[in-house]
Amino acid sequence: MDTFQIPVIAIDGPSASGKGTVAQSVADKLGFHYLDSGALYRLVALKVMQSGTDTGSLDQLSAMAKNLDIAFINGQIYLDGTAVTDLIRTEHCGILASQLAAHLPIRTALTERQRAFRRLPGLVTDGRDMGSVIFPDAVLKIFLTASAEVRAQRRHNQLKEKGIDANIAVLLQDIQQRDERDSKRSIAPLQRGADARLLDTTSLTVSQAQDAVLSWYNAVNARN
Ligand code: CDP
Repeated sequence: MDTFQIPVIAIDGPSASGKGTVAQSVADKLGFHYLDSGALYRLVALKVMQSGTDTGSLDQLSAMAKNLDIAFINGQIYLDGTAVTDLIRTEHCGILASQLAAHLPIRTALTERQRAFRRLPGLVTDGRDMGSVIFPDAVLKIFLTASAEVRAQRRHNQLKEKGIDANIAVLLQDIQQRDERDSKRSIAPLQRGADARLLDTTSLTVSQAQDAVLSWYNAVNARN
């Protein structure tokens, strides 16, 4: 089967909008594969932090990104054979990921790796440019967002669950800065595409957001 016939649901949106949780739950429900593209950028950031190559040239950084030894197994994320699932979730790692993600050679280095996740029976993926750049032929594109305040609260809860202390005001400021950087960058900026449906989850539960995505997907399927 041609890869392009394998259905992709692309969920893009700003930091801490909950798109990862929704994307994963939709993937589970449909029995599809799931790609958290932000994790790839965070893995590049972690590798940079570990190896101190942040002073290296963009060429060196993109070669490193292309050759990263990573694996996603049963909900765990591995870098060089070591589980780093929680380690990549720190704010520091997220901020560095967002800075590195602004460079085209680093994004290009990760493109094929992301496309390789497109396998039968289908893929649900989340990020910033899944519908615009990586899977432009996705059958369903969603722009999932929520107010910055609600996102700061969600990020706070998420970190608390992992035993990481955080201050809501600092998180809100970080989210606003990240929105600014992700949406204003010249390459693959975070934007709602004309073909993406808007899903504002400010006052929705995960299960309500999941239902909205599934009903859109069923409607798309019924049409095809
Ligand atoms: O968890 P959060 O939504 O804050 O971020 P993430 O999805 O884990 O991604 C971390 C950073 O990687 C983001 O701030 C983006 O700058 C970058 N990223 C990107 O540029 N393109 C993607 N497809 C995914 C993430």
